[in-house]
Amino acid sequence: MHERSTTIAWMEMVMATFWHAVDKDLEALRAAGQYKHLKTLRQPMGAESEIEGVGKVVVLCSNDYLGLANHPEVVSAAIDAQKRWGAGTGSVRFICGTFDYHHAIERQIAELSGTEAATSYVSCWNANEAVIATLMTIGGDGVTAISDELNHASIIDAIRLGRQINKASKSAVYKHSNMEDLEAKLKDSAAAPCRIVITDGVFSMEGDIAKLDRIHALCLAYGAMLIVDDSHGVGVCGPTGKGVAEHYGLFGRIDCMTGTLGKALGGAAGGYVASRANLIDLMVQKSRPQIFSNALPPGTAGAASKAIEILMRDTTRVEKLRTNVRYMREGLKKLGFEAVEGPSAITPIILGQTSKAIAASKRLLELGVFVIGFGYPVVPEGVARLRVQISAAHEREHLDRALDAFKKL
Ligand SMILES: Cc1ncc(COP(=O)(O)O)c(C=O)c1O
Repeated sequence: MHERSTTIAWMEMVMATFWHAVDKDLEALRAAGQYKHLKTLRQPMGAESEIEGVGKVVVLCSNDYLGLANHPEVVSAAIDAQKRWGAGTGSVRFICGTFDYHHAIERQIAELSGTEAATSYVSCWNANEAVIATLMTIGGDGVTAISDELNHASIIDAIRLGRQINKASKSAVYKHSNMEDLEAKLKDSAAAPCRIVITDGVFSMEGDIAKLDRIHALCLAYGAMLIVDDSHGVGVCGPTGKGVAEHYGLFGRIDCMTGTLGKALGGAAGGYVASRANLIDLMVQKSRPQIFSNALPPGTAGAASKAIEILMRDTTRVEKLRTNVRYMREGLKKLGFEAVEGPSAITPIILGQTSKAIAASKRLLELGVFVIGFGYPVVPEGVARLRVQISAAHEREHLDRALDAFKKL
């Protein structure tokens, strides 16, 4: 009896230490000004929304680039899919969670990506983890993953995971969009028979696009496989919005594309890997985020499928987005802000210190404009910024209201 109560007391003490550590960590975030206060929206995503406790705002921070998240056709397609298939799959793909609609959306994704085949995941985070870690695992002791330093966190973590699973694999990071450094990393890893180069199509914090023409040429020259995560490029870049590969005239020539269904393609959720049929087969056979996690649910797939159909049938939204981006950038420049040129829908406005970016975003919110300020540790110290994201959903009056707020700022 005495021994049991001593054990319980000891366990309680250990748990108390953990709960204390949780509180201390949260306190540290607050003290460093890095604590995130989540804002609650009371209306669907669109050019405008309503924030609890704030009121109506122009939204300049969503990834709903084509304004499809609340498009009537997309919403109806989600409802119809849910009515037809129910709430969810109740299973992972390889047990009894593969439905007709999975094959249908995967064919659409392959067509959109210019690849033989595609497979879906519940997020692009999972898709990146799936393809990168699986390839690093099957490559035996000769695989090296080479990644741009500003790649998305899911790519960074996927490489870490791959290295953890296959201890013989290696990784290297090249300076952002620095082709000399990428070539140096390819030369350094010459002994490795399998090299994988991974890049974002559009870099989410900078809004710049990968130098895909040169990366592609280097991969060919050094016999490396190329994976492009075009989460922010699809629906935005390229003459018909097929993404960064299309922008460079490389559509259909990239070894492997990954992307999200949670941004321009309906804004719901989901991700994909698109590539040759054999790589897709391998993903279905071996990729752990698909084998051990439920399949893409019907409503989410229905929404994305309709969004892809809309994008493929007419480019009006892509063109409107481009016009809006140009208008906003020119307007910001006229006001004296440094708005970087480029084909993406993301315009960062560098303000320097984190506190300055946070204060600017607060002030803009008071003025009815929702823009997020990003500081350390999301971006390096000294280059904190406001990240302006434009959508085809914006009309001139939204952009003018936003510019007016920036003027007051
Ligand atoms: C480049 C990139 N890849 C992957 C993701 C993750 O996408 P998802 O929300 O589908 O997991 C994001 C989202 O922020 C992203 O920007």
